[in-house]
Amino acid sequence: MAKDKTVYTCTECGGSTPKWQGKCPNCGAWNSLIEGVAEAAGNQRHRFASLAPASEVAVLADIEAAEVPRTPTGIDELDRVLGGGIVEGGVILIGGDPGIGKSTLLLQALDGLQRASVPTLYVTGEESGAQVALRSRRLGLDASQVKVLAEIQLEKIQATIQAQQPAVAVIDSIQTVYSDQLTSAPGSVAQVRECAAHLTRLAKAGGTTIVLVGHVTKEGALAGPRVLEHMVDTVLYFEGDTHSSFRLVRAIKNRFGAVNEIGVFAMTEKGLKGVANPSAIFLSQHSEPVPGSCVLVTLEGTRPMLVEIQALVDSGGPSPRRLSVGLDRDRLAMLLAVLHRHAGVACMDQDVFVNAVGGVRISEPAADLAVMLAITSSLRGRALPKGFLAFGEVGLAGEVRPAPRGQERLREAAKLGFSVAIVPKANAPKGKARELEGLTIHAVERIEEALEVVRGLQ
Ligand code: TYD
Ligand code: MG
Repeated sequence: MAKDKTVYTCTECGGSTPKWQGKCPNCGAWNSLIEGVAEAAGNQRHRFASLAPASEVAVLADIEAAEVPRTPTGIDELDRVLGGGIVEGGVILIGGDPGIGKSTLLLQALDGLQRASVPTLYVTGEESGAQVALRSRRLGLDASQVKVLAEIQLEKIQATIQAQQPAVAVIDSIQTVYSDQLTSAPGSVAQVRECAAHLTRLAKAGGTTIVLVGHVTKEGALAGPRVLEHMVDTVLYFEGDTHSSFRLVRAIKNRFGAVNEIGVFAMTEKGLKGVANPSAIFLSQHSEPVPGSCVLVTLEGTRPMLVEIQALVDSGGPSPRRLSVGLDRDRLAMLLAVLHRHAGVACMDQDVFVNAVGGVRISEPAADLAVMLAITSSLRGRALPKGFLAFGEVGLAGEVRPAPRGQERLREAAKLGFSVAIVPKANAPKGKARELEGLTIHAVERIEEALEVVRGLQ
């Protein structure tokens, strides 16, 4: 068999060249060439054969629509984000900061599967077999039958998976795996991409479910490439603050289930435990209301959750800072502009910091109103009333737009004993009833109106 040759492919134009250069000879882009393997002609057919098994072209209506069978992992919160369990031949990428609990969760899941007589394999490239064993003892999985392989070379991992035929294999982590075919170091874009592509092919061909663990860089992207996200069927991200015990696992992409579904866990002495009723864990416990704090109900997947937004507005230097943790910074700048323009609240010479408590990340615009009320509250040094919450999107024209499934959010807040809410008009109950199980609801259409209502309550 002819030896595979190294080629360099441009990420901009897709052209390739046999030699690495700083500039792509085809399109002139700088620093866009990454290493890859050009397979020998004999291999080429084989490569495509494994990707597309010969099957007849069929009319869509004639194809039987079968639900994919799923195997539950036995960890309810994980099954929820996966859409019910793992799927045969599926490839799952699970990302998160170091130390957040990826290895712990996957070891627990593999043990659960193994106990249900599903053959498993845990490939560790970061820890030795002894370290994995130590962790499993700590987790109380004493008689665990999970098979462990400490290996980082792709070809050996592939051979082991082919020989052992596990139903589920975890590769912890994809950044430690390297292929002999490439000269670049493990963890480089080229290596991660090539190794993930081979493992994906193996999963599809052999029916093994492969879980790839990926580290997240400081910038928050999966180290190496986002290309991995396109290759795999499911992308899960671990979120949360390593200093608090709560962890969220969020589905960013799922070919076999709903996206944006989340699983909530608490890190305990004995590993990660699912939190079945997470609605109130992201509230910090103030005995008396403090300025700069506003609670919102956010809807994560199918579950409403109450999250506290904190803001600190403090006099800044010549170029004041805008910082946000758990919220989008560009959106913060936009909300500050809207506050100034439409409600006359000026923070031009102030530093503005906002934070979503507990390390949650909130991407939905329904947080806008709570963020703006927290900022105003901090600026004026006046706390919002006790038992107060707000949600709603705020537009550039200062209008307050409805949030999806508002009634559900309000019911959750009422259940948890909140007493007063400011919400978009379209989300408030119809007619005169502005009261829901002890929760007084104020409906607003504009941001200045919301601030007016707050002034009346303070
Ligand atoms: P780990 O799963 O190693 O994180 P990752 O694989 O994402 O890097 O998580 C390790 C952290 O979790 C570490 O700080 C110790 C803590 N931990 C517990 O609190 N309880 C436990 O039972 C285990 C196994 C770990
Ligand atoms: Mg780990």
